[in-house]
Amino acid sequence: MSGAALKAEGLEAGYGPLQILFGIDMEVGPGEHVLVFGPNGAGKSTLIKALFGLVAPTAGRVTLDGQEVTGRAPEGMVARGMAYVPQVSNVFASMTVTENLEIGGARLSRARREARIAEMIELFPVLGERRRQAAGTLSGGERQMLALARALIPEPSVLLLDEPSAGVAPKLVAQIFELVSGLRRTGVSVLMIEQNARQALAHVDRGYVLEGGQVRLSDTAHALRENAEIGQLYLGG
Ligand SMILES: Nc1ncnc2c1ncn2[C@@H]1O[C@H](COP(=O)(O)OP(=O)(O)OP(=O)(O)O)[C@@H](O)[C@H]1O
Ligand SMILES: [Mg+2]
Repeated sequence: MSGAALKAEGLEAGYGPLQILFGIDMEVGPGEHVLVFGPNGAGKSTLIKALFGLVAPTAGRVTLDGQEVTGRAPEGMVARGMAYVPQVSNVFASMTVTENLEIGGARLSRARREARIAEMIELFPVLGERRRQAAGTLSGGERQMLALARALIPEPSVLLLDEPSAGVAPKLVAQIFELVSGLRRTGVSVLMIEQNARQALAHVDRGYVLEGGQVRLSDTAHALRENAEIGQLYLGG
């Protein structure tokens, strides 16, 4: 086995003349769950977009399961086993739950798609109860589950999650993290961004602190939770 499931080396990216990422080095090991956190505007979403090919890197490399994929379009990333759940607009609001799941399996054979949808409904039973409901009428938590289920349908090897607890009622946030953590059984590697960083750190293996488009610190989740300075600055004391 040769190393990381996902790796960024010296990654730089931005929007037109505006540079946001300044030489990011990070990796996610096979089956590893990794958290990225840091202040608003640090470049967390931009990092995930650059990894997924939604923002073109201006320097550096992205490697997926040992294959260089730098600058490929999102379709190419999906074909190679990457999946991405955006921070906002992560479901088609006017379509039903079932239709959203079908889109997630658009590249699969019909039989395989139906089997995967059934598996996702087993994993997220509430989606089965809501299958004919428009996604836009789901609660925040149900909507995140749908977005997660849709991304998982093609059985990605690497899952990128941009704030899966956003819009979820506080008492259900833990449930979302437990669902993500439960995906360890499937062997999928996870790179997750979260504002609820203290809580999220309890469910991942390692973390990176991103600030001003640079990695300020990376360590095991345990060490980050014990780090007083990180606690003060980024984890709400
Ligand atoms: N499409 C865009 N065009 C120009 N600037 C952008 C664009 N998207 C983001 N930015 C800018 O890039 C910087 C980083 O944004 P990004 O969304 O990556 O931060 P973030 O760390 O995810 O923040 P948050 O915690 O608020 O989600 C911000 O200053 C933002 O205004
Ligand atoms: Mg963001």
